[in-house]
This record gives sequence, C-alpha cells and structure tokens, in this order.
Amino acid sequence: MGIATPTFETPPARGAFGFTPGFTGLRCGQCGTDAPTGPRFACARCFGPLRATYDYPSVRANLTRASVAERPPSLWRYAELLPIERVPTDGLSPGWSPLTPAPRLAQRLGLERLWIKDDSRNPTLSFKDRVVAVAAQRARDFGFHTLACASTGNLAGAVAGAAASLGLRAVVLVPADLEPAKVAQAVALGAHVIRVDGPYDAVNRLSLELADELDGWAVLNVSLRPFYAEGSKTIAFEIAEQLGWRAPDVVVAPLASGSMYTKIAQGFDELGEVDLIERRPTRYVGGQAAGCGPIAAAFADGTDDVAPVFEPDTIVRSLAIGSPADGGPALTLARSTGGCIEGVTDADVVAAVRLLAETQGILTETAGGVTLAALQYAIRRGAVGPHDEVVVVISGNGLKTLDVLAELPTGVIGSSFQDFEAAWASAGVDR
Ligand SMILES: Cc1ncc(COP(=O)(O)O)c(C=O)c1O
Ligand SMILES: [Zn+2]
Repeated sequence: MGIATPTFETPPARGAFGFTPGFTGLRCGQCGTDAPTGPRFACARCFGPLRATYDYPSVRANLTRASVAERPPSLWRYAELLPIERVPTDGLSPGWSPLTPAPRLAQRLGLERLWIKDDSRNPTLSFKDRVVAVAAQRARDFGFHTLACASTGNLAGAVAGAAASLGLRAVVLVPADLEPAKVAQAVALGAHVIRVDGPYDAVNRLSLELADELDGWAVLNVSLRPFYAEGSKTIAFEIAEQLGWRAPDVVVAPLASGSMYTKIAQGFDELGEVDLIERRPTRYVGGQAAGCGPIAAAFADGTDDVAPVFEPDTIVRSLAIGSPADGGPALTLARSTGGCIEGVTDADVVAAVRLLAETQGILTETAGGVTLAALQYAIRRGAVGPHDEVVVVISGNGLKTLDVLAELPTGVIGSSFQDFEAAWASAGVDR
C-alpha cells in the first residue's frame, strides 16, 4: 500500500482582490514639484523630501469598510493607500498585529481604556517589516538585485527576511555595538552583515555613498524612502479598523528618525480624508531615550532646532539616531495636537519593560520600554488623563534585547521532589 500524498487546501491568493491603485506618484514636500515614480528621495529642484501622493476621491470611491473587511489579514488590505501599482502576491506579509486590551496595565497607570498595538508580532519581530515590505516590492519593480540598509538593529532583520522571501540579496550595515541577537537574526536570515565602527549616523552616511556608487543596490531607507516611510501608516489603519473604524484620544509611539511617529498621524488623517473614519483630534505622545533624544530635547527646550547628538549614550540602541530626518515634522505634530515627546532615562526604560511584561505578558525590546515610560511621563505632565482612550504602539520584541534584563536563574536542583522542596524552602517563597 502506498503512502497517501498529503493534500493542502489552497488559501485564497494574496492580491486576488479587486484593486484600483490610489497612488499617483511622487511630489516634493517643500516646493510641490512632481517627480517621476522611481528610486529617488529628494526633489531635483530644491532637494526637499519627496512624498507619495494619492488620488483621494478615487480611494474614497473604491475603498469601503466592507471591502477592506473581506481582504486577507496583512498590511496589503489597505493597498489603495500605499505607493504600489499592484497588490503583491509574494514576500512576507506583515501587519494585522493584535490590538490587545491592557486592563491590568491600565489599572497600574490609572487609566480607564488602554490598548497595546503589539507590533512585535511581525515576521521578523518588529514594525520594520511594514516599511520594508513596501520598499522591497518597489525595489524589485525598479530592477534592483540587492536590498541594503543602514540599521539600528530591527531594520537589519526585516531587510534580511524580506530579501530572502523575494529571492534578492541583503546587505545590512550596522553600528558595531549592536545587540548580538539582532546581528544573529540578520545573519541567520542570510544577510551579509557589515559592522561599522561608529554610531548610526556614520553608518547612514556610508549607506548614502553605497546608494550613489553601486548599481543594482537599493538602500531601502534612503533611496526608496518615499515608499519605505509609507509602510508605517498601516499601523494607524489597523488601529482604526480594530477599534471599529475610529481614532483613539492618544497614540503613544517611539521615535528614532521620527518617521513612524509622523506617519501614524498621516495614516489617521488619510482615513478621515477618504471617509473611512470620522475626523477627531488625536494627541501624539512620543518617546526617545534621554541618552540619545535630540527631538525630545528640542521639545523640552521649546525650540524647532533639533541639535544632533554625536555620542549616543543609552541602552536603547534601536532608537539611537543622533540626526533624525523627521525631527522637525515630529515636533510640529506633538505641539499642534497637544501631545509631547519625552526623553526617558535608561532606568525607566528597564522598569517599563518589566511593567509591561508583568502586567500583560508582553515582552518588548528597549524601544517598547521607552514608549511605555513616555506614557508614564505624559500622565505625570498632565498631557494624558484618566478618561483618555490610549493606544501604545509596541514596535519591537524583547527577545532581541534580553541583555538589559540579565536576571537569569543560576542554581540547578536535583530531579526529586525533596530537591524541589528544599530549593523552594531556601528561596523563602510561599508554597
Ligand atoms: C523597535 C523600533 N521602534 C521604533 C523605531 C523608530 O523608527 P523611526 O526611525 O521611524 O522613528 C525603530 C527604529 O529603528 C525601532 O527599531
Ligand atoms: Zn522641491
């Protein structure tokens, strides 16, 4: 008798849903000049940042709550509001991470309604899978064979995973002092990992040269930035949909370059623009590590000038960008919405990582500690009150930064019940 051949039910093809692109091209955010769609990030006329543009009336006509609900659970369900011309059918499919009620944490913070958007649950365990998913697809459309990036850690893993899933090559440049787990993840996913002596800003400068010098290499967070940055909006799209199509009172998110923080706000604005939610005021609370917090420092000083930090001094390596590209827009967002951007001490970061773990069973990396601590600071400053509905964006996974917790049990016991009883009694804990 032969062995039966296993059969697999074919899941619905991704990208099979009806789709009319909303993306219309690139435009300078400074002088408004249009630029052809391609791997470019700066305006040819004034060197301002290029942004993706959309035909909102068309999106309003084509995208409804009901049509979104029928689509597969990934960031591509909002394809009309992403800078793509067709819905991808391959590659990793990040997004649709859980929005979890956090009643035990809420009680500790004195809040009534608190949610965790747990974006540590993406394919490579951070929100960076969203930005990379969009940029990697476009890099392939534009004919690149190598996906490169400068990374503070999470981007490295995301680029490595995306490249592998698309059959492209990954080359990631990282500061040499990165957490070992982040380097190991990128290596294991097949990336060429290049450790550079210097802080992130030096690594980023080198990546700019690569983008200029090497044919076929796409530096995703630089040369494809207008596409890359748009991926973060999907965090807002999902939060709105998961809340039953509405925006919360407060969103709390971390900032490195400031891109994700500002793109979340753009995401809620766009949903209002295409009538998927009702417009309402949302305050944006941000967090940086005090030891590398150029945007938080500018917020505290009441200035628009973001002074670069040349020597980051923090355990929060994922957010350690000394010259943030979107510092100005982040300050404008915080101030114009009645939010704030807090500079959090390393001790408070570790305490917040532990608080989230022990109240909600979610282990976040140091960036998540910054985020939760920023909420605590904002409550203390009065920017968030007990009746506010708050969503905290947890953007990375704690398995990547276990080194900061460093409290592993050291003893070993024999395998009898007596051994257990003796060990338990000597620990002095109730039975
Ligand atoms: C876990 C995590 N959260 C947040 C951020 C902030 O990203 P952005 O540069 O968009 O501000 C990063 C950046 O590397 C990150 O790794
Ligand atoms: Zn321009």
